[in-house]
Amino acid sequence: MASSAALKVAPSLNSAELPPEHIYFGPSEMMQAVRQKIERAAGLNVPILILGESGTGKEVLAHFIHSRSPWRNGPFVKVNCPAIPGTLIESELFGYEEGAFTGAVAAKPGRMEQANGGTLFMDEIAELDASLQAKLLHVLQDGHFMRIGDHEERRMDARVICATNRQLHREIETGGFRADLFYRINVITITLPALRDRREDIPYLVEYLREQFNRRFQRDAAPLSKETLHLLQRRDWPGNVRELENCMARYVVLGSEDSFYAERTERPVPHFTYELTPDGNIPLKRIAQQVTRRMEHDVILKVLQANHWNRRKTAAILKISYRALLYKVRQAGLPAKRGQPKVGAEAKFPADSSAEAD
Ligand SMILES: Nc1ncnc2c1ncn2[C@@H]1O[C@H](COP(=O)(O)OP(=O)(O)OP(=O)(O)O)[C@@H](O)[C@H]1O
Ligand SMILES: [Mg+2]
Repeated sequence: MASSAALKVAPSLNSAELPPEHIYFGPSEMMQAVRQKIERAAGLNVPILILGESGTGKEVLAHFIHSRSPWRNGPFVKVNCPAIPGTLIESELFGYEEGAFTGAVAAKPGRMEQANGGTLFMDEIAELDASLQAKLLHVLQDGHFMRIGDHEERRMDARVICATNRQLHREIETGGFRADLFYRINVITITLPALRDRREDIPYLVEYLREQFNRRFQRDAAPLSKETLHLLQRRDWPGNVRELENCMARYVVLGSEDSFYAERTERPVPHFTYELTPDGNIPLKRIAQQVTRRMEHDVILKVLQANHWNRRKTAAILKISYRALLYKVRQAGLPAKRGQPKVGAEAKFPADSSAEAD
């Protein structure tokens, strides 16, 4: 079982916390072909374009390519194109000189310079606006760029990897993406398959993720039953590996295969109904409270069960105070101890808006 110290660690599913090489390819032909292509391309100083639906692993793959490249000892610098406001992205990318614009009180190197000797990862490249696409094309053709407000040309000395989950061909057809930039960045293109197109990898990925999360959360969750594995292989996984990863994290933390069924339609989901108040209104706030309470009831119950009704551990995992947990357990009508009967009418998810505990 996990130590109480480990239980204080909330399950964080941020890929940035995983070491960069943490990618699992799987035995499918498609993923083996991806792997072989990377082994050949990682060392070449040419741009690489990674395509694939959301959650297929474009970013982890970019890290992997970097770690296999001659630039691995240099920095890996990511530019998340949609996250940077349009007005700022140029200065973020190219940097600026002191006084280049109002507020530029000191010179600042851009990400292109920061990536010197390493990899520049342009994520969600299809989101770049037309003027920046033109500037990026210029840099990639010329190999030089200038900080804003500067006259000195600087050499771009980083391997460029771009990624997008958009269909770039379609973007080009509709005028959203420059064809000439596309030809520049796709010297080598790697397309990551959707998880539903490589179902044979799912049992291997499941094992890989189980071991990862057991280590990370200091748990000892057992391998999945055959029945559950088959179920997972039949699913379509619109969120791809990210979705599977989240499911596996929940499984490892809760220690119960129920977590694979809870939010799915393979098991009947009770239909949530609400009633009009006598005056014919539908008070949204009240309904939201009812739904929240129902959710809280289910989650608390699951975590309590998974932790043999240890309420301190449960509170730590749920990131609420022990006092708040006791309050919520009472409010949800859950028994205070394992095996005790449920307590009274409150289990019916009251619609009242009584004050919350801390
Ligand atoms: N092959 C893989 N092996 C291990 N983990 C993976 C793999 N593919 C994806 N993941 C995990 O799935 C999550 C999503 O991966 P990533 O961020 O690389 O996807 P993405 O394709 O960039 O998605 P998006 O288009 O939404 O940005 C991450 O937490 C990552 O660790
Ligand atoms: Mg991504």
